[in-house]
Amino acid sequence: MSVKSPSISVRKASAPSVKVDALVVGVAPGDQEVTLDSGAREVDKALGGRLASTLTALGAKGKAEEVTLLPSPGGVDATLVAAVGLGGDEPNAEALRRAAGAVVRRLAGKADTVAFAVGDGAAESVAALAEGVLLGSYTFDRYRTNADKRPAPISAVTVLTGKARDKAVKAALARAEAVAAAVNLTRDWVNTAPSDLYPEVFADEAKAVGKRAGLTVEVLDRKALEAKGYGGTLGVGQGSEREPRVVRLSYKPARAKKHLVFVGKGITFDTGGISLKPNEGMLTMKSDMAGAAAVLAAVTAVAELQLPVAVTAWAPMAENMPSGSAQRPSDVLRIYGGKTVEVLNTDAEGRLVLADAIARASEDKPDVIVDVATLTGACMVALGGRTFGIMGNDEDFNSFVRQTAGRAGEDGWPLPIPEGTRESLDSKVADLANVARGRLGGALVAASFLNEFVGEGIRWAHLDIAGPSYNDGSAWGYTPVGGTGASVRTLVGLAEAAAAGEL
Ligand code: BES
Ligand code: MN
Ligand code: ZN
Repeated sequence: MSVKSPSISVRKASAPSVKVDALVVGVAPGDQEVTLDSGAREVDKALGGRLASTLTALGAKGKAEEVTLLPSPGGVDATLVAAVGLGGDEPNAEALRRAAGAVVRRLAGKADTVAFAVGDGAAESVAALAEGVLLGSYTFDRYRTNADKRPAPISAVTVLTGKARDKAVKAALARAEAVAAAVNLTRDWVNTAPSDLYPEVFADEAKAVGKRAGLTVEVLDRKALEAKGYGGTLGVGQGSEREPRVVRLSYKPARAKKHLVFVGKGITFDTGGISLKPNEGMLTMKSDMAGAAAVLAAVTAVAELQLPVAVTAWAPMAENMPSGSAQRPSDVLRIYGGKTVEVLNTDAEGRLVLADAIARASEDKPDVIVDVATLTGACMVALGGRTFGIMGNDEDFNSFVRQTAGRAGEDGWPLPIPEGTRESLDSKVADLANVARGRLGGALVAASFLNEFVGEGIRWAHLDIAGPSYNDGSAWGYTPVGGTGASVRTLVGLAEAAAAGEL
């Protein structure tokens, strides 16, 4: 699917003496010239103190993601020196991730082996660079017959640090690899054409991935969904030739401190159904399973990290198609557990499949439920393409999710579910309708709908990732075009926080 990720190792060595194709150093904005990060200062010595002025003459400003390439000066064993902008002195983890991502994208086709002499060499910095490298070098070539003509991605990266033998550095590196693998798996699933990734295939792949990670796997097919009353998922899926599935992956270590449930929307393609979308509205809708992909990948990472918390991922999967067998506006569905929903707009399908899974997951009385969904265009209107919305039934938990996201290098922002929102979903015939009249506050209305299916006393947060899950523009930092893997790092961070007793 995606091209093999570069291997990453750590080494203690002086930057000028490393024999690689490209040596990466960091620069930051300064008064007259760029200022040099510590690794860059070593190279500067070998150059007789002319690195900053040379880079400045080449136009370097030290801005985030700027990359300036220099042919190797005498005294440096690498073939190329790549100076990457850090945006400021003392870069934080996210600045290092973005710099690493930007530089590996730029070095594709130019270097096979790369060494980083960037940052302070502490475990956190090494891990941030590794994450940026592994996430930034992602490419998706499954459908390219001319992939060999594209710039070859780098194959081996060495991060230079004085602490190469530290246990903390080794552990941080292993964590970065597990997390990046989960993000890249999510991207692969999102990028795959919907003709190749429909519920049955997606469920089979989730099962294989879950088994490999040692998880308990359950896959409900149409018959099982009918027997158990998953009416939301069945209603959405009934218009498609491809039958729906619900997948459960569960990780349950012996002395689990908490139980977290992650629920992800898995619409493998969203045409809108009978409430058909215009063509432009469908162009990115293969990504409508990004939430499901994220929760499934995240639980495999949690298992690999052997965190002492139980995590269950639920992924309801369906294809939303218009056909003679499709559900119609006015149909009434019976969601898992018995609540009835009048479907007034078949394009508001995500909340229907999520309702089943949230209701079912609530029966297990977990400590928290976090659902992740490409749920509303309204959330993108509100927050743009890089920030997910956080809604829920507990303001403190919303803030906690936001903080956790920030620490992981993701951006989420709390939105309210104002009083009166639930009433806007009152139905003339059923317990509730799936949409309100009018378009105001669409993201909040959707959250209010989901809230109806969360079990009593369970803390719940809903992440609307419609914006950040898919990059329709060009690559930036470590974010490629197409599927981004949004929310995976936040979910793993939440499990880590729970393991640390912070939840
Ligand atoms: N999958 C879409 C939401 C979406 C839109 C995600 C654009 C990413 C980009 C969802 O199923 C949907 O169609 N939502 C409707 C809800 C409306 C009918 C109440 C929307 O946002 O228009
Ligand atoms: Mn829709
Ligand atoms: Zn959808």
